Amino acid sequence: MKVTQAPFFTALIRMCDDARKEGWHECHGGNLSYRLSADDAAAVSEELTPAGGWQPIGLSVPGLAGEILLVTAAGQLFRSTAREPERSLGILEISEDGACYRVLWGYWDRGRPTSELPAHLANHEVIKRRSGGRLRLVYHAHPENLIALSFVLPLDETVFTRELWEMMPECAMIFPAGIGVVPWMVPGTPEIAAMTMEKVEEYDIVLWAQHGVFAVGESPDACFGLVETAEKAAAILLKVLSCVSRKRQAPSAQDLRDMAAVFRLPLKEKFLYDRLPPDEPHRSA
Ligand code: 13P
Ligand code: ZN
Repeated sequence: MKVTQAPFFTALIRMCDDARKEGWHECHGGNLSYRLSADDAAAVSEELTPAGGWQPIGLSVPGLAGEILLVTAAGQLFRSTAREPERSLGILEISEDGACYRVLWGYWDRGRPTSELPAHLANHEVIKRRSGGRLRLVYHAHPENLIALSFVLPLDETVFTRELWEMMPECAMIFPAGIGVVPWMVPGTPEIAAMTMEKVEEYDIVLWAQHGVFAVGESPDACFGLVETAEKAAAILLKVLSCVSRKRQAPSAQDLRDMAAVFRLPLKEKFLYDRLPPDEPHRSA
């Protein structure tokens, strides 16, 4: 089967297109990577041929030795993924020592994997281990409301998580572990990869302050839905904050505990602290 006809590939292209329409991928902003299953790789094996030699990754990911991943190309427009898949994406293989990769498909016209490859691979190594192989997708986007909030709220996971959870019940259901927060750092570096990897031990979604988010998931739909939910909550919160300096009412820690009991959500107590009572109703002077 051709790579472009494989079900895993068409699902990823659809995700790129949906995400672009949400406005999360200006120009070449954002990137994604998917770790192929043995069945995915077997289905497209006729098109996987080593092209060029081994390239250093810049960090070591022994937990991904021999893995095959589809990764977006550096500098490619997200809106071109469907039109020019062989230029916008590539498939690569990780060496047995986990220090290098080589290209098996795509990256036409001397393209190369995303500049965030170290962060993608570091995160894959963590999620593969922590999920027993279930989690296969790492996704980086630039959703505007979450980015805007990183200028407004303190860069503190307990604050971000609680504020987003309060916005609508789906938030605690879709990201019950909370949201991780990484301060502004230079993109594409091993340092931001290392910091994100630490956060992904605990969280499925991590905010990169004044930059974007990294999210991990089992499938394109799961990953897309996670970012969509957090981004919608951020939009609601910004609307609220633009109307009042303090909320008049909000679900309490006990409300969230009650919901967690009904829906069996593993919400951590560190996010369920008591908050100041809401504002008195506004009275005119
Ligand atoms: P790439 O074009 O290299 O994927 O970079 C986009 C981006 O969002 C960097 O953080
Ligand atoms: Zn980015």
